[in-house]
Amino acid sequence: MIIVLLGVEMTDPVRAARIIAREELCLMEHVPDPCTIVIFGASGDLSFRKLMPSLFDLHVQGLMPDTFRVIGVARSAMSDEQFRRRIGEVLPKDADAAAVKSFAGQCSYLSGGYDDESTYGAIAAALAGVKAEGKPVSRVLFYLSVPPFLYPTIIGHLGDSGLARPAASNEGWSRLVVEKPFGTDLESAKRLNEVVHSVFPEEEVYRIDHYLGKETVQNIMIFRFGNSLFEPTWNRHYIDHVQITAAEQLGVEHRAGYYDSSGVLRDMFQNHLLQLLALIAMEPPVRFEANAVRDKKVDVFRAVPGVDESAMDSSLVRGQYEAGTAGGSQARAYRDEKGVPSGSNTATYAAMKLEVDNWRWRGVPFYLRSGKRLAHRFTEIAVQYRRVPTSIFKPLLNEHLAPNVLRFRIQPNEGIAITFESKHPGPKLCLSTVTMDFGYQGTFGAAPPEAYQRLILDAMLGDPTLFAREDGVEECWRILAPFLSAAEEAEGLHPYPAGSRGPAAAAELLSADGREWYEEGTK
Ligand code: BG6
Repeated sequence: MIIVLLGVEMTDPVRAARIIAREELCLMEHVPDPCTIVIFGASGDLSFRKLMPSLFDLHVQGLMPDTFRVIGVARSAMSDEQFRRRIGEVLPKDADAAAVKSFAGQCSYLSGGYDDESTYGAIAAALAGVKAEGKPVSRVLFYLSVPPFLYPTIIGHLGDSGLARPAASNEGWSRLVVEKPFGTDLESAKRLNEVVHSVFPEEEVYRIDHYLGKETVQNIMIFRFGNSLFEPTWNRHYIDHVQITAAEQLGVEHRAGYYDSSGVLRDMFQNHLLQLLALIAMEPPVRFEANAVRDKKVDVFRAVPGVDESAMDSSLVRGQYEAGTAGGSQARAYRDEKGVPSGSNTATYAAMKLEVDNWRWRGVPFYLRSGKRLAHRFTEIAVQYRRVPTSIFKPLLNEHLAPNVLRFRIQPNEGIAITFESKHPGPKLCLSTVTMDFGYQGTFGAAPPEAYQRLILDAMLGDPTLFAREDGVEECWRILAPFLSAAEEAEGLHPYPAGSRGPAAAAELLSADGREWYEEGTK
């Protein structure tokens, strides 16, 4: 089908329906068709902390389908009433009581083992019950919010039970939403992709990377491809290097079981940080459509060469937090966290240097770092431009001119800032670095919404633009493979005190190249 709207010809009806011109240029939100969401792992942390509040917010904004159902599935015993009460408890205290009631009223719960056929029979019966109420069940979103080792079991049962088969009607669909981590290395990701595809075609698979749903991350593409100012300079001729930082103040919390076998490389680099790199480095897609966008991102991943062993020392620094003071309180060492083996060599911090070997980026290093229990929580991308070729002020000013830096503050204090040199007012010639700053809160009067809202809405709408595609996930594991092998060595794991800026060796990774990390709040 081809739709022509406002002179724009589009082959994708979902996108077409979302294009409407208003005073500001808006992609008008389109309300999804009636559907049912089946959440596996509904009694878990993610479900109550993120999924339910996001679904509720969509409901309040009128962005849930006219008729929808949420069926929670998990092993814990719980009645519908208890489930609804728990949902009520996790919603904002000031939420409208009628809205909470109407939302919770659409949610039901069934308990059962994930490897138990009868669980799937119960889901089928619940869907039949929904149908008997006159609500459609031909569109079902299966959301896997369970530990990854359960993915093959659940997907297999969804296939065997026939639940994953879309209803005969043309408008029916059945989609799979999978949380990260998607595999633990390239081989396991490939195997998991095979399992997934034995039941769901790729077009119906939505691999979540919640960073892609963050407003500030979505805005990278708008910034780059909605403005003409920066694109001509967005290359090796003008850009010196790029830094991508995701610093956390929190420690491993209650997730030691998962985290200790995963570590920071699998937890943050394989997905979030590489996705940010792709958005900064990608070529302009032909149009803003799922596969056009994802093709360009995958091209970036393909252009990242494998780092060989001899270059590992100058490409990777790993660290693990020790006891210290973080966020104003005493924090114990990673090895003393509940559930962490006392001799664990799992990295809670890593800094990495990557290249993107293509015409645009050859020779421009991309430095990535992420860690837990650091001094500040800040996620930022700093794009540092080259210095001016020569300073005409040299005879007067002995100092060198600071390079321009464009900083995308992903969180907190979301915004974009650019620094440049400026003259101080007055008769003397004094220069200093000043900042032009755009902040979301100041400009739009509100903090950006929770990333999951956007992602769940898009999964219901059938728009996978902000989801990882099979080939992209596999490429990211390929990039990570040599780093993962290196991380198996106990040697080279640098301790850093909780509440610090990470191990000194991370600073050396950049100073060896004559560069420095940008820290939170610094110019
Ligand atoms: C998750 C990781 O994907 O992202 C966590 O598993 C990490 O370890 C979290 O804390 C960070 O997300 P955010 O949105 O707080 O930056």
